Amino acid sequence: MTSTRLVPVETLHRIVEIAARAPSVHNTQPWRWRGGSRTLALYADTARRLPHTDPDARNLTLSCGAALHHAQVAAGALGWQTRVARHPDPDRPDLLAFLDLSPGPPPATADETLAALDRRCTDRRRFTAWPVPEERQSHLARIANHWGARAVALTDESERFIAERLVRRAHQLQWADPVARAEQEAWGHRGGDDGLPPDALPGGPDLAGGHPHRFEGAWEDRTATDLETSDGLLVFFDTDDDPAAWLRAGEGLGAMWLAATTAGLALVPLSQVIEVPETRAAFQTEVLGSLAHPLLLVRVGWRSTGRPPPARTPRRPVSEVLELD
Ligand SMILES: Cc1cc2nc3c(=O)[nH]c(=O)nc-3n(C[C@H](O)[C@H](O)[C@H](O)COP(=O)(O)O)c2cc1C
Repeated sequence: MTSTRLVPVETLHRIVEIAARAPSVHNTQPWRWRGGSRTLALYADTARRLPHTDPDARNLTLSCGAALHHAQVAAGALGWQTRVARHPDPDRPDLLAFLDLSPGPPPATADETLAALDRRCTDRRRFTAWPVPEERQSHLARIANHWGARAVALTDESERFIAERLVRRAHQLQWADPVARAEQEAWGHRGGDDGLPPDALPGGPDLAGGHPHRFEGAWEDRTATDLETSDGLLVFFDTDDDPAAWLRAGEGLGAMWLAATTAGLALVPLSQVIEVPETRAAFQTEVLGSLAHPLLLVRVGWRSTGRPPPARTPRRPVSEVLELD
């Protein structure tokens, strides 16, 4: 290598390590990074796409968007400003973003930010019964919007009712679909550094009366329960349903999740309703009035304080996802 390295290798390594803590569908971690002397390039790892439930790579790109958000925030907290070009090369659709780093003062909140990035997780256990005020939900939506995503809280009772019905329908349809189930099972219990280990999934006594949820066992075994009225529901949407919109939504998701974590809220994506074509179409017309495409539905609720966080999901080592020029 002849060029001078302007950003230390350890810094690139640390940024990618933090970015890799981002959420991803089924913990597929569908990203690759390439580090230059002062740059980081983010690529979609399409070999990690879920072909049946994510044929267009919507969830894959959303996941990479969350990692892109985490990388920018981590770089800032470590004293590096970022300029980001999204989809910089039309001939390389897998190149999602190019980050240019330059020294900059870390914000006063850098330590808290780094701690929250590390703490963020998917806590699928029962939320407390305290309602999430509408103002708090709108604030979360504004944070996502600030990152270029479009999100709105579903606070109207009839919208929530429809959303809840469609969440159940999607769960039932996927449960009845052997290919979708096989795909999900292939990413559970892998015992390695990706996928969903059993202890990250619900099943303990905390979950009695839980949500219609993709990881909660056979639909038939469960008492059908509604989304709790205390749960907040937010939907990411866009007038476009394309990789640029999905990447923006993913960055907004990362930002919303980080803010929720800092505020003591748990956030859980409910992506099945968007994965299943029938319920995605119904969501678009019945909830969004055909004005926009739904990209991801999430629920939020207060985490109960007196219990330990759920087990951490594994991550692939940085050496596997970062290649240096
Ligand atoms: C685009 C996307 C869709 C997801 N969909 C679901 C979902 O439908 N149900 C769920 O319980 N978790 C969902 N998750 C959460 C992932 O399973 C979780 O992020 C991953 O297993 C890593 O665990 P962690 O968030 O605790 O780090 C989704 C995450 C992303 C980014």
